[in-house]
Amino acid sequence: MDRSYAGELDAADPLAGFRERFVRDDPSLIYLDGNSLGPLPRATQARIAEVVGQEWGTGLVRSWNRWIGLPLGVGDMLGEHLLGAGPGQVAVCDSTTINLYKLACAALDARPGRGVIVTDDDNFPTDRYVLQGIAAERGAELRMIRTGMDSGVSAGAVRDAIDERTALVSLSHVAYRSGALASMAEITDVVHRAGALVLWDLCHSAGAVAVDLDGSAADLAVGCTYKYLNAGPGAPAFLYVRRDLQQHLRQPVWGWFGQREQFDMGPAYDPAPGIGQFLTGTPQIIGTVAVAEGVRVLAEAGIGRLRAKAVALTSYLIALADAWLAPHGAAVASPRQDDRRGAHVTLAHPEAWRISQALIAEGVIGDYRAPDRLRLGPVPAFTRFADVWDAMDILRRIMALQTYRYASPSRTVVT
Ligand SMILES: Cc1ncc(COP(=O)(O)O)c(C=O)c1O
Repeated sequence: MDRSYAGELDAADPLAGFRERFVRDDPSLIYLDGNSLGPLPRATQARIAEVVGQEWGTGLVRSWNRWIGLPLGVGDMLGEHLLGAGPGQVAVCDSTTINLYKLACAALDARPGRGVIVTDDDNFPTDRYVLQGIAAERGAELRMIRTGMDSGVSAGAVRDAIDERTALVSLSHVAYRSGALASMAEITDVVHRAGALVLWDLCHSAGAVAVDLDGSAADLAVGCTYKYLNAGPGAPAFLYVRRDLQQHLRQPVWGWFGQREQFDMGPAYDPAPGIGQFLTGTPQIIGTVAVAEGVRVLAEAGIGRLRAKAVALTSYLIALADAWLAPHGAAVASPRQDDRRGAHVTLAHPEAWRISQALIAEGVIGDYRAPDRLRLGPVPAFTRFADVWDAMDILRRIMALQTYRYASPSRTVVT
């Protein structure tokens, strides 16, 4: 409970040096929102200046020769270092929402005669909405698993929800609100036994949890790059299609970047072989470059060490929350078991909104999620144990003195 213990943990942290790889303009700010928008790597700042100034500014259209391979090249890097995916299975493109639509449609088409899509009622809104839209478009049934807000989805609940009519099960690997971590290999196996395909949303996993897509025999996955991959707001997302499935799936957006011999400008759509057919239109180059730099920093840190630090930071945070915040009515609303938790911790408190605003006013950035949750997401390559101690110390003061009562109850600020 003593701050000196945090200092000892920081002194022994093998990733401590990585903090300097990120821009830190305000040294007093404690940033615990890596689960929403990761910090800016210095290398990204320099590389983007180069891409804009030289590759675009000087090279102009000639630079497409080097840019055109980025979506699949960066996808391979991401797959190898952070997703447990061999080459030729990951592409960096579009947004998570769009990629989810593409892969969910492709999966349904690959299971003709099966009209049921399964997801869970605590899945991230965009996932539920996209699946609702697809179900409405196709007259399919969308079946919702009822999932505890704090516990996440279990293999047993998936088993109970699926049958021989199920075409697709689409779930988040790490739940956006509680951080609950689903068992990818076990659930994938359950889904396969029913003859269906599984589509994982890895937004809160990539860069934070050691994902093993190939080892879990996962079929499909999507995820964003602006959280733990630190690629910046609106940077392109990624998708994964297992190699042996690629030739059997056809995505619904028939764009020219997914075309075989694209520059022949042929009369009819003829999808490229391999993962390339899942691209759509002109890739967003500046964002894709930022994904490459974000992945490079994390690859150097190593996903094993990043995961170990995420576990250490979050279990430390939970211990402090139990000791200091529970007496003020805040309950840990994330799994306590380390292997069931992603990289953030959620606290439940009826005044979570005003507490989150009071916390920001004191220089600690976390975020609020409805209905009454405060999320605290340390950045494994960036956050110090002393930051966690300081943030929790500020939080206990805010709760003990109820200074949050001066914060506005109006929920207009988005962080
Ligand atoms: C689990 C999950 N899926 C999807 C998204 C967002 O998708 P998009 O980048 O398309 O807005 C988020 C954003 O926080 C998320 O947490």
